[in-house]
Amino acid sequence: MTTLKEFMTQEMPKIEAVMLRLVEDIQAPAMLKEAMSYSLKAGGKRVRPLFVLAVMDHFGKNHDNGYVVGAAVEMIHTYSLIHDDLPSMDNDDYRRGKLTNHKVYGEAYATLAGDALNTLPFGIIARMNELSATQKVTLIELLSVAAGAEGMVGGQVLDIDGETRHLTLDELVQVHVNKTGAILRFSIESGAVLAGASDEERAILRDYAYHIGLAFQIKDDILDIEGTTEELGKTAGKDVASDKSTYPALLTLDGAKEKLDTHYKEALAALGKLPSDSTLLEELATYIVKRNK
Ligand code: IPE
Ligand code: IPE
Ligand code: MG
Ligand code: MG
Ligand code: MG
Repeated sequence: MTTLKEFMTQEMPKIEAVMLRLVEDIQAPAMLKEAMSYSLKAGGKRVRPLFVLAVMDHFGKNHDNGYVVGAAVEMIHTYSLIHDDLPSMDNDDYRRGKLTNHKVYGEAYATLAGDALNTLPFGIIARMNELSATQKVTLIELLSVAAGAEGMVGGQVLDIDGETRHLTLDELVQVHVNKTGAILRFSIESGAVLAGASDEERAILRDYAYHIGLAFQIKDDILDIEGTTEELGKTAGKDVASDKSTYPALLTLDGAKEKLDTHYKEALAALGKLPSDSTLLEELATYIVKRNK
């Protein structure tokens, strides 16, 4: 059985190679491709593509299509980080241990590199000849909803709203479910679509994904307080500095940790309903709650 560590060592270079090749292959101004590649190459945990692959692995499927869909979702995620860091949003100077995209290329190019990384993935999926037309349309529709107004973008809007007024816990759950959870849910569900999972299995994985999404952002909020800028590769303490509504702000640090544990346990409980061994998906859940960056 593959452990998560072996899985990451094996799969991360493949994900990165596919992603960079997909950008290299486009016909576009060199400066734009450079700015896109800069943020993709800067590192990152690659959690989202790893989820695509881990779900396919769970169903015993060959990973080849997963690298492409994983690269697509990592591009969308990377675009969301480039825009999240812009002066008009969180105004961050560091990301993935390097200067943010706009610090290197300027705001106009950073915005456009983000736009390009937001649109390229849909074409990439549309061109996946190995998939059926139904699979492609399903993935494109799921990604469009996850990344857009009903998902990540909508969540980011409510998140900014949370800087000027104190959100209720229900509203904060909606921020987390959308700004971070939606793309993670896509990652998990796309693996199920590629693997041809049954409706029942997909429903179980959606439940797992819901709790993973919440746990991931609660941990991000905790790390913003407990982590250092060096460890995180992005400026620590930003949320308190901008008086943002976060789990620790609403519930205290201990309260946030309790919620993190609750969603971790719920994620594992969901996996318990799958008929076959789900060690890798369990280990990914553990990685998310224990990580220090
Ligand atoms: C950071 O995501 C932004 C959130 C959605 C919380 P990650 O913590 O996955 O960042 P990278 O990809 O590893 O840099
Ligand atoms: C960002 O949340 C979520 C995204 C959609 C990019 P944060 O603003 O908390 O992410 P970090 O802490 O800057 O990575
Ligand atoms: Mg933000
Ligand atoms: Mg931010
Ligand atoms: Mg954060």
